[in-house]
Amino acid sequence: MFITFEGIDGSGKSTQIKLLADALEVDGRDVVRTREPGGSDGAEAIRRLLVEGDPGRWSAETEILLFTAARRDHLERLIEPSLADGKIVLSDRFADSTRIYQGAARGELRDIVDRLHALMIKREPDLTIVIDMDPDAALARGLARGSGEDRFEEFGAAFQHKLRAGFQALAKAEPDRVKLVDGDRDVEAVAADILAIVKAHLP
Ligand code: TMP
Repeated sequence: MFITFEGIDGSGKSTQIKLLADALEVDGRDVVRTREPGGSDGAEAIRRLLVEGDPGRWSAETEILLFTAARRDHLERLIEPSLADGKIVLSDRFADSTRIYQGAARGELRDIVDRLHALMIKREPDLTIVIDMDPDAALARGLARGSGEDRFEEFGAAFQHKLRAGFQALAKAEPDRVKLVDGDRDVEAVAADILAIVKAHLP
């Protein structure tokens, strides 16, 4: 089973993925935790080009190519082999991030994103959890981390509001696959909701 986590910057995805992985492992499941951009050596190298530096470093079109190249490597080297071994793969972001960050929030490029996905990636997650939360609170959290990986946070609050709306629209368009979870609550309450959704989807 391939499960992805999506949401705006600072929405608490990595904390929630760790809690979910721990809960599934207690249940005796074999879990692989990974992230995008990244998750394989080549994709991690591409990640540094994307998340560091000046916001104007790449156009949205160039970003689509770089994110897709990183995703293809991640898919070939980690995701597909892990799924073939019967593992549960939990990925911090996947193709929905490109659909929203590059396809919707920075111009009308969704058609290009979809065509490239159909050509080079093809795979969709079995389940996608979107952690929905207030962009102002999330942005403060993201920049406060001071990770040096804040190129997308630097686009500012209005961009994060557009992203949130994009993820909400995605959940509406694909209600079977994409589940919205209210992230403006304490960590344990969010984790309990996510675990219930995932358990309902596990074979
Ligand atoms: P992260 O901070 O969640 O690790 O993600 C890195 C940044 O890259 C984040 O700001 C979202 C952005 N991103 C895209 O713009 N498009 C994509 O396809 C992916 C996977 C991430």
